[in-house]
Amino acid sequence: MSIQIIYYSRYGSTGEIAQTIGKKLRTNAISDIRNLKEINGDLIIIGSAIFTEVPDEEILNLLKDEGGKLKDKQVAIFVVCLRKEYLKAGDKEVGGPVYIDKMEKALGRPPLTSKIFGGRMIVAELEGEDLKRTEEFSKKQGMPFKDVNVMAKGEVDEFIQDIKAKIDL
Ligand SMILES: Cc1cc2nc3c(=O)[nH]c(=O)nc-3n(C[C@H](O)[C@H](O)[C@H](O)COP(=O)(O)O)c2cc1C
Repeated sequence: MSIQIIYYSRYGSTGEIAQTIGKKLRTNAISDIRNLKEINGDLIIIGSAIFTEVPDEEILNLLKDEGGKLKDKQVAIFVVCLRKEYLKAGDKEVGGPVYIDKMEKALGRPPLTSKIFGGRMIVAELEGEDLKRTEEFSKKQGMPFKDVNVMAKGEVDEFIQDIKAKIDL
């Protein structure tokens, strides 16, 4: 079975996770959505970093599949974020399950499997609006504005096990 991984990453952590998944599944077909040329494979693994509560728009458009390119393909999805757990704050729902739900809704059918990965934020790397937004957010929440890393190695293996439990690779 041929496998392609397509991802959106702004600061690199989602790209690193995509590369690790690719290495473990022995595929070199790993594409940044911004350089995507073709969709090629029986299993397509699609992942997005989360910024201001949403997956990347191009990733959502890919999942919506207006051109029918994902039709007849197995699709597994993942998100990379800092708030992995579901949280309801007033009438606002946030956290990993909410982000996965947005991806699933775009796909319009249940994915083969899905996974919420912990991500990483390095303050010194943040640019422009991202820097302003995250600084304001930390202040508002009364949190220190500092680097956060919740990436966990075992998560890739769990994701691969979930995939392998559903299909023969
Ligand atoms: C401006 C900004 C907004 C973010 N918004 C969210 C968010 O709404 N929910 C969340 O869980 N993580 C949020 N994050 C954390 C990112 O999802 C996390 O840093 C992720 O690992 C980034 O992936 P990348 O390194 O592939 O770009 C935000 C980070 C930044 C810089």
